[in-house]
Amino acid sequence: MVMGAFSISVALLLLSLFHRVHSKLSYKVEQAVESGCDLYQGNWVFDKSYPLYDNSSCPFIKKEFNCQNNGRPDTDYLKYRWQPTGCNLPRFNGREFLSRLRGKSIMFVGDSLSENQWQSLTCMLHSAVPTANYTVTKTGNIFTFTFPDYNVTVLLDWNAFLVDIMGTSEGRALKLDSIEGAKVWNGIDVLIFNSWHWWTHTGRKQPWDFIQVGNKTYKDMDRLVAYEKALNTWAKWIDSNVEPKKTKVFYQGVSPDHANASMWGQPSAKECAGQTEPLHGPKYPGGPHPAELVVEKVLSTMSKPVYLLNVTTLSQLRVDGHPSVYGSGGHSSQDCSHWCLAGVPDTWNEFLYATLIQNQS
Ligand SMILES: *[C@@H]1O[C@H](CO)[C@@H](O)[C@H](O)[C@H]1NC(C)=O
Ligand SMILES: *[C@@H]1O[C@H](CO)[C@@H](O)[C@H](O)[C@H]1NC(C)=O
Ligand SMILES: *[C@@H]1O[C@H](CO)[C@@H](O)[C@H](O)[C@H]1NC(C)=O
Ligand SMILES: *[C@@H]1O[C@H](CO)[C@@H](O)[C@H](O)[C@H]1NC(C)=O
Ligand SMILES: *[C@@H]1O[C@H](CO)[C@@H](O)[C@H](O)[C@H]1NC(C)=O
Ligand SMILES: *[C@@H]1O[C@H](CO)[C@@H](O)[C@H](O)[C@H]1NC(C)=O
Repeated sequence: MVMGAFSISVALLLLSLFHRVHSKLSYKVEQAVESGCDLYQGNWVFDKSYPLYDNSSCPFIKKEFNCQNNGRPDTDYLKYRWQPTGCNLPRFNGREFLSRLRGKSIMFVGDSLSENQWQSLTCMLHSAVPTANYTVTKTGNIFTFTFPDYNVTVLLDWNAFLVDIMGTSEGRALKLDSIEGAKVWNGIDVLIFNSWHWWTHTGRKQPWDFIQVGNKTYKDMDRLVAYEKALNTWAKWIDSNVEPKKTKVFYQGVSPDHANASMWGQPSAKECAGQTEPLHGPKYPGGPHPAELVVEKVLSTMSKPVYLLNVTTLSQLRVDGHPSVYGSGGHSSQDCSHWCLAGVPDTWNEFLYATLIQNQS
């Protein structure tokens, strides 16, 4: 009986959320709390009660993200909490998350920054219910993390461009208007998309030989222009395939890297190495991220509701959050684009949580 009443209230809650989101129709950043407070305006504060998990309570952190195990000596970076200026972000409650999402599937779609957030969420959930069973499997590009006791599945669809790369007789075509890979997104309850970092790759790291749009081929193209064309293809797919009553769609704001310290006024710093505290907010000296502006432009044209996890600016302030030389373990090259776990992606998931449980009453 208790279960029944609970599921009904969850159903009502989700329904009212969809009404709220849908009634706005065209894209609009929804407030995650009623007060009208912008959760994304704020600053980082030191909070001893963080992190939400560590390298012992989450035994499956990937080596590249596991900075503490890789010998990172400082720990303050683990203890920053995002404090919105006019309200509070609800503290993450993993049991609540799993109970509310019972029977549902959550899929991150994108590159290794999606993997970063996917793994952060699975750590946050596992450390909340450490004795509950879990399974992890991989099929093709899809990683599936399941909590059988809650019937909750957290998936990662590794897909760096969202649009397709196809082999042709002339080489590998990056097809900006083709999105066959979307097939696996059907039927998922919560989708969280991200793409950008691979659009910047050139030379050996570039996994395509030319760009194709319709019958036209291009040797190369301004990468922001190509990104926008691809996102428009994605937006069209969402607008014609997603049923908002069934599926909630999020876009994970562009994750900034910190390879150029001149951008934050420390020209003598060596990329992100040795950074041990965040910049003071609210503004990042380097200005807005150009790819994020493309994301906001495309989302503004969509007819289906898409919630932007507007994490770009607050992550720009976290010059201290990257693995730096404590990524793959003892490598001399720095990683200033992924994030240590525990770390910044935990906050992205706090926004995801706040949004999914909003209208709680
Ligand atoms: C995202 O957040 C930043 C910083 O708070 C803000 O300047 C920007 O307008 C926000 N974008 C949207 C679409 O709300
Ligand atoms: C975990 O992190 C701590 C520091 O927070 C470190 O001392 C320890 O070696 C790390 N590794 C393991 C396996 O616990
Ligand atoms: C798990 O959830 C799915 C999807 O809602 C449902 O079809 C299935 O019956 C559930 N399984 C159990 C064991 O509750
Ligand atoms: C975990 O799974 C095992 C094997 O499937 C089962 O025997 C055990 O009861 C499960 N534990 C819990 C807490 O559900
Ligand atoms: C591609 O070119 C062929 C012949 O040149 C034409 O028939 C076809 O409609 C074109 N397709 C597209 C998508 O433009
Ligand atoms: C680093 O940023 C500064 C300031 O924005 C810019 O002038 C410089 O060209 C950048 N360097 C590189 C290597 O991108």
